[in-house]
Amino acid sequence: MMASFGAHKQEEDLVYPAETGTASKGVWLPLGRSFPQRKWRSPFLVYLLLAFAYLLIIILFGLLLYNGSRLSSEVSKLLKQVKMKESFPCGSRSREWEYFDGECYHFSVQRATWHTAKSHCEERNSSLVVVNDEAEQNFLESQARTENFWIGLTDADNEGEWRWIDGTNYRNGYKKWKKGEPNNHDHKEDCAHLSGEWNDLACNASMFYVCEKPLPS
Ligand code: BGC
Ligand code: CA
Repeated sequence: MMASFGAHKQEEDLVYPAETGTASKGVWLPLGRSFPQRKWRSPFLVYLLLAFAYLLIIILFGLLLYNGSRLSSEVSKLLKQVKMKESFPCGSRSREWEYFDGECYHFSVQRATWHTAKSHCEERNSSLVVVNDEAEQNFLESQARTENFWIGLTDADNEGEWRWIDGTNYRNGYKKWKKGEPNNHDHKEDCAHLSGEWNDLACNASMFYVCEKPLPS
């Protein structure tokens, strides 16, 4: 049954080349598919398609290489930035800024009055340091060594009413005055500075200062 069906099919599906217009004689071609078959047999078209495929592969390969190298250079750039952030969390000009506990600190190398120091810090997108706790005080003392530095604390507006420049609550907050300070010596000391612990001094005195700013994002 199968054999006879196969034979019948062969008879029905094949057509002699003379009927299809092909030049080759004596070759049986499948009926209905004779036209595409003839096209595929054209060597020129096959070579053209092969050349096209080859070109496509070369282009894709080139694109892959280009994107790969671009990606790897982006990755190495990012890794470099991460390393920089780890080594210099306060930015590349880190010799000017010290990192401590999520904040960046600048210890000035020039002296200024308290008000000029305040402006200098603001010009650097920072403010005179506000000392919030013992850990910060210890850090400042260790960096300041024996030198004096202005901090962001003043009672210039109202004698005896000390205020931090960022509005931090002074009354209930951390304090580290030297023994006997603040004493408003000569009735003209309205600005606070680090001298190990804190002292009040005339605001127009010239000394170093510490600026503080949050870690850049
Ligand atoms: C006092 C300080 C004062 C300073 C002024 C020191 O001897 O102990 O309270 O601020 O002199 O120069
Ligand atoms: Ca004093």
